[in-house]
Amino acid sequence: MKLALRWHVLLLGFLLGTSGACAADQPTPSTQAAQLAERPGHAGIASANKLATEAGFEVLAKGGNAFDAAIAVASTLSVVEPESSGIGGGFMATMYIAGNKRTVFIDARETAPAAVNPKDYLNPDGTPNRDTALKGPLSAGIPGEPAGLVWLAKNYGKLPLSASLAPAIRTARDGFKPDDRLLGAIKEEQKNLERWPASAEKFLPNGNAPAAGETWRDPGQAHTLELLANYGDAGFYSGETAQKLVDAVHAAGGNWTLKDLASYRVKERTPITIDYHGYKIITAPPPSSGGVAIAEILNILSGFDLSKLDQAHRVHLTIEAMRRAFRDHNDYLGDPDFVKMPLNMLLSPYYADGLRQSILPDKATPSSMLAPSGGQDPGMHTTHFSIIDADGNMVAITSTVNYLLGSTFVAKGTGVLLNDEMDDFALVPNKPNVYGLLGSTANAPEPGKRMLSSMSPSIVIGPDRTAVIGSPGGSTIITQVLEGILAFIDGGDAHQVVAKKRFHHQFMPDVVMVEPGAFDAETTNALTQMGYSFKERGPWGFMNVVIWDRRTNKLDAASDPRRDDGLGKVQ
Ligand code: DON
Repeated sequence: MKLALRWHVLLLGFLLGTSGACAADQPTPSTQAAQLAERPGHAGIASANKLATEAGFEVLAKGGNAFDAAIAVASTLSVVEPESSGIGGGFMATMYIAGNKRTVFIDARETAPAAVNPKDYLNPDGTPNRDTALKGPLSAGIPGEPAGLVWLAKNYGKLPLSASLAPAIRTARDGFKPDDRLLGAIKEEQKNLERWPASAEKFLPNGNAPAAGETWRDPGQAHTLELLANYGDAGFYSGETAQKLVDAVHAAGGNWTLKDLASYRVKERTPITIDYHGYKIITAPPPSSGGVAIAEILNILSGFDLSKLDQAHRVHLTIEAMRRAFRDHNDYLGDPDFVKMPLNMLLSPYYADGLRQSILPDKATPSSMLAPSGGQDPGMHTTHFSIIDADGNMVAITSTVNYLLGSTFVAKGTGVLLNDEMDDFALVPNKPNVYGLLGSTANAPEPGKRMLSSMSPSIVIGPDRTAVIGSPGGSTIITQVLEGILAFIDGGDAHQVVAKKRFHHQFMPDVVMVEPGAFDAETTNALTQMGYSFKERGPWGFMNVVIWDRRTNKLDAASDPRRDDGLGKVQ
């Protein structure tokens, strides 16, 4: 067993070309190593929409790589799944570049405008103003997605940006039949969309949501995407589009300036890398809280042999690890360019040892006993897609406009639906945001600062299988990805990983959110005895996973059966 484990470590170091302990141990030739494929030779894409997945394959067929395909998928989602993500929002990408075995994290997260004013998010009586936080131009951060797409093409793609944006532009111009999820979102947000003429013009042709089966066109967004394709950053962050964005935002009471747009920059960051039972998990660093929380949870869990425990005790320990990680999320995390965070502590196995010690073997720890630090159901907006190309390049992208249809505000003349990401800041200290997350000064709004995210696009490299994984779901993103990673490590295939029933705990509110069927009666009884209370809720998440089995050299792609399975494709 020990020997086998050691081999796993060597192979991982070899595969990733990592430094440190792995590099010092030179791999020796082995038949085992020789049996593992080095490139898949075919590609897998799992996204939330068939047209987006097809756009990715179209670009691969033109000679593009996974990064060009990611541009095609993201930009097509901006057109066909605007309730979840788009060029008026931002994304985070965790990537593996096969050519030089390098991992990188691309932060195309939105930023607060320079004129951000916390008072804008308060009612006259000092209570949080949920409308300005979630609807209209004050709720929108400066978009990062367009710059992120330009960045991907310039630094990682093989094709010109215009080639990768071509499918989205064609779909926006020629039209498509919206799926039920988009039609439902438009109906749900109709009242808000009616508040702004350009939003109504885009989403409510003839005063209502398009009818099912009707072809819907988005010429405004097609034009904006064309400017981006032709001029890169300058096509969005200066010139015609920038002026229209600023004019529209001002006319509706917002505070963006041309300078806010011109000074937006993509950030490349070092991903968080976690070693867990021979698997290397490459995931999102701040300004996402996802990677830190997943690392903390796995570091705590690595001190237990979960395989020897019954379900109740496995779940108990996992919830306690989640509780402690979310407490730290609330207290410490924010934009690394603005706040000093004790990351060395939070990521340290010694810190995890201490937290593990505080877990009682058969009893829930009330959150109120841990430290200071509320809730709403997570929506299903935001989108995640996973790609592995024939050469073994991998991209995990979670992209968002935040809540359903973002701010519901479309900037006149651009077709761009703006995000409502400002609500991801702790706009009012210690008052829950739409996902029930609390925050401190670390995540207070400041000019140019990125709001803390839960997005956790991840790549898991195991001894002989690799997974690209992620999901939308607000604060539950973190626990979904964690549970998906554990299901993968337990040997699950792509369908099993995405279908695995979910549970979630985020410190406050002190309740375990459970998907019906996640626990059997015996487990529920045992957990109730330990002191847990549960809130059952409908299915959540929209996980998209691609797995590469390097022993058989087969790819496996799957989409969440809770939403729309059959969207993952390998060819
Ligand atoms: O960045 C974040 O954490 C949130 N804006 C993500 C929002 C989300 O996942 C919405 N829904 N399912």
